[in-house]
Amino acid sequence: MAARSPSIIRRSLLYVPASSQKMLAKSLAIPSDNVTYDLEDSVTPSLKSAARDQLRSHLTNLGSGTRAFGELAVRINAVSTSHALQDLTSLVASPNLDAVVVPKVESAADLTFVTDVLRHTAPERHQPSSGNAIKIIALIESARAIMNLGEICKATPQLSGLIFAAEDFALDLSLTRTPSLREFLYARSAIVTAARAASLPSSIDLVCTSFRGEPGLKTLADECEDGKALGFNGKQCIHPSQLDVVHRLFSPSDRELEWAARILVANEKAVHQGRGAWTMDGSMIDAPVIGKAAAIAERATKCGIQMGKVLEKWSHQEPE
Ligand code: COA
Ligand code: MG
Repeated sequence: MAARSPSIIRRSLLYVPASSQKMLAKSLAIPSDNVTYDLEDSVTPSLKSAARDQLRSHLTNLGSGTRAFGELAVRINAVSTSHALQDLTSLVASPNLDAVVVPKVESAADLTFVTDVLRHTAPERHQPSSGNAIKIIALIESARAIMNLGEICKATPQLSGLIFAAEDFALDLSLTRTPSLREFLYARSAIVTAARAASLPSSIDLVCTSFRGEPGLKTLADECEDGKALGFNGKQCIHPSQLDVVHRLFSPSDRELEWAARILVANEKAVHQGRGAWTMDGSMIDAPVIGKAAAIAERATKCGIQMGKVLEKWSHQEPE
């Protein structure tokens, strides 16, 4: 079975428009797993250059100061535009930068362009083996990208995740987004499958455009449950109000923790008894189910949950 990444957790990826000095400053106190400073669609063409300069000063002034969020990324403009090269050369030298989010990736060549620029601009941040390499996260937002997922995933060892972008995908295919998200099923499923096959640590689901009040957050919660069920392990966010729901629903639930702990505890005893298949609550438990329980426990630990305590609570569990 392919290895899973030990450390990266990206339940939430929050976009912060780089053109807004106020939001750049506010971002430092926001506990998102990933903050992505955006130079693409939230910045109008006339402000691209000023936003890039403003972002560069923000990254420089950040120094080793405190920030509440985990990973720091920049979303550059698409490599097909005249802005991408300058976005990269201006910003990748920042020691604070952990990842580059590349929009509108259509083929492996788009990522080759980014890695070539990284190799020349920040050679010491280019070698994946250095442990300090800048990660690349690719936005998949067109039919062509879906057809090229295999080559995109193999384009560079720096690739660390895929993101599904629904609005551009809907534009490309001339389809209309519906609350059921049924029209995106093939693309979303293709993305999580390709990411998993390539052992990428994350696959991040579409933006929920609702963020205000109870109805907005209910829509968000429904989308999170749907995305998690499809295999995504995180979600793009546009507003800090979305983070609590996204973190809660992309972390193992109490029910999942209990289920996993009971299986892991009982399995140790079953192994001692020489039993590979056994039952719990009347259902058969064997290797893939135990693997799923172990994956939940691993994710819980990444999410900061003390799995040891849950296992301890169920230490009396026996295989049936
Ligand atoms: N990052 C940092 N701070 C943010 C933020 C974000 N993404 N979204 C909102 N805030 C801040 C606001 O500046 C405001 O600060 P204040 O209380 O000091 O005034 C506070 O959170 C509340 O914001 P609110 O008034 O509810 O929202 P808004 O009307 O100011 O902004 C959006 C709404 C959607 C325009 C804004 O959230 C946004 O620009 N999001 C990101 C959009 C983006 O990047 N899109 C491209 C990727 S899909
Ligand atoms: Mg887009």
